[in-house]
Amino acid sequence: MASAADRIPVDHHDWHSPDYVEEWIARDVTRDAERRLRLREMLAAAPAAKNDPLAVLDVGGGYGVVTEEVLDMFPRAVVTLQDYSQPMLDRARARLAGAAGRVRYVLGNLRDPAWVAAVGGPFDLAVSAIAIHNLRDSDQIAACYRGIASVLKPGGAFLDYDLFELIGGLAIQMRVIERAGFTDVACLWRQERVAIIRALRPAGAG
Ligand SMILES: C[S@@+](CC[C@H](N)C(=O)[O-])C[C@H]1O[C@@H](n2cnc3c(N)ncnc32)[C@H](O)[C@@H]1O
Repeated sequence: MASAADRIPVDHHDWHSPDYVEEWIARDVTRDAERRLRLREMLAAAPAAKNDPLAVLDVGGGYGVVTEEVLDMFPRAVVTLQDYSQPMLDRARARLAGAAGRVRYVLGNLRDPAWVAAVGGPFDLAVSAIAIHNLRDSDQIAACYRGIASVLKPGGAFLDYDLFELIGGLAIQMRVIERAGFTDVACLWRQERVAIIRALRPAGAG
């Protein structure tokens, strides 16, 4: 069987390869302690109370680290974990088996506008971590932000932890997010190429 190194990677990652995903997760978990702290800080910025029965969307949720943190921080939350990698969703389903009734898995490509209808909604909160930059193309990134805005309830929030420096820079992405239908777009934390952005859906948004 071909190893991940023998395959032609898609955009330098090969998210559809079980071998590649396995290797990526094995590397990623070595950063777990620091990453989870950061994710908790991000989620603490959600305009929500601990016991709110939140409907949450995890965009490009991968093997479920962000979803797991949401489930822990908000014990009554239900999460829709969206991703286009079947191997990632398989890993997420196995990891989160104990929370089966609280997680829905949706396979969908953020480059295909059909992902928006597939996830349903409306959601109180959308979260994403190191995922959307994978789209690379500025039009597709803007369309993805618009898609997220469209499935959020008025007053809902979008929390995005991403490598904004790989896609034009933080300031540009904050403007793109605002134009996609958000208000109060703010950078909550920044370090080298990574940052966390919070953006709100206007209360009167339809
Ligand atoms: C670096 S991983 C991050 C996974 C997870 N959010 C986390 O923080 O552990 C990037 C994720 O984005 C997903 N992804 C990349 N391009 C995508 C696309 N076009 N549509 C949907 N998911 C995509 C990959 O499959 C992968 O699970």
